Amino acid sequence: MKTTVRHSKGSYEVVLTDLASVHAQLSERDHVVTDENVAAACGVMHEHLAVPAGERSKDLSTYGKVLEWLATRSDRQGRVVAFGGGVVGDLAGFAAATYMRGVELLMVPTSLLAMVDSSVGGKVGIDLPQGKNLAGAFWPPSAVLIPLDSLGTLPLSQFNNGMAEVWKYGAILDPELFESLESTPLRPDSKSIAEVVMRCIQHKRDVVEADEHETKGVRAILNFGHTVGHAIEHALAYEGMLHGEAVAIGMVAEARLAHLLGVGPKSNVSRLEAGLARQGLPTEVPLTLDRNALVDAMRRDKKAGRNGLAFALVSEIGTSKLYEGVAESDVLKALENL
Ligand SMILES: NC(=O)c1ccc[n+]([C@@H]2O[C@H](COP(=O)([O-])OP(=O)(O)OC[C@H]3O[C@@H](n4cnc5c(N)ncnc54)[C@H](O)[C@@H]3O)[C@@H](O)[C@H]2O)c1
Ligand SMILES: [Zn+2]
Repeated sequence: MKTTVRHSKGSYEVVLTDLASVHAQLSERDHVVTDENVAAACGVMHEHLAVPAGERSKDLSTYGKVLEWLATRSDRQGRVVAFGGGVVGDLAGFAAATYMRGVELLMVPTSLLAMVDSSVGGKVGIDLPQGKNLAGAFWPPSAVLIPLDSLGTLPLSQFNNGMAEVWKYGAILDPELFESLESTPLRPDSKSIAEVVMRCIQHKRDVVEADEHETKGVRAILNFGHTVGHAIEHALAYEGMLHGEAVAIGMVAEARLAHLLGVGPKSNVSRLEAGLARQGLPTEVPLTLDRNALVDAMRRDKKAGRNGLAFALVSEIGTSKLYEGVAESDVLKALENL
């Protein structure tokens, strides 16, 4: 299975394949960047640079190490291969975008989140001490090779982390996908996994092709669940909760908000709550988090403007758009535990 993503400078293919075939397509000329978990789990064979696993590696110091490693490699024509989850994709991708003013990038996403979200769309970057993803670029890959069998070693919590984004695509764009997830929860060994991954990639492709550089507001719908989710991650200082878990809570809270605003039905709240819980994802804002602090964080969200807070909200399952000028009192109500 494959699909093509078009962008202003050309296009690239996204191909569903397996680890053996990815390894067969790499050569000693490639500059393979991975992390220590993936190097062990996926048996990365070619000479490579393995950074410590985790978000902390998306920092300036590791980025510098990747650049310096690239400068020690003899073949300057080789491509950078980002072999790993979203952290490796963003980090190695940003190194590819900037090393010698930009070299070819091949994405090999090995986490579900990287397969359905971060490897497609051309955004790469690193974190600064002042905030996440503050330094970055648009640098589309030359291809995305997805070794689906790498999901076999992905920890279940990380699988469910990616599933939060899959549920999101269903909620914002694809009622049929949403219903299929409701009736049969997706597991790493589900028969339909290839079809679901490809369907999510096609949704991401459609959105990024319509708004490549995030200037038209179309990409904003991908933010469903993320305004609240990011605020929760910020309040927890990005420790102790995975991104997809915060987004799952965020989708339920934002469905409540949509209901309060008369945008979406109450049934969206209960359907998301039931489905996400069955997927092993949390659905309630932790009681320990100060609701006013969450709203403070939302004011710093890039969608917020002069008119107030902004949210990507779902009306009917499968239909979503950006709503601006949302009152903070309504947001506080949506954050109450019932
Ligand atoms: N560029 C974008 O458009 C975009 C979009 C969404 C998210 N992101 C970024 O992606 C990052 C999160 O990505 P992630 O969730 O993949 O995190 P990650 O890269 O840290 O991977 C999660 C964990 O799973 C491990 N892992 C990955 N694949 C494995 C496998 N096959 N077997 C065993 N272990 C494996 C990793 O070592 C890590 O411990 C964040 O930094 C986020 O900002 C970027
Ligand atoms: Zn996300």
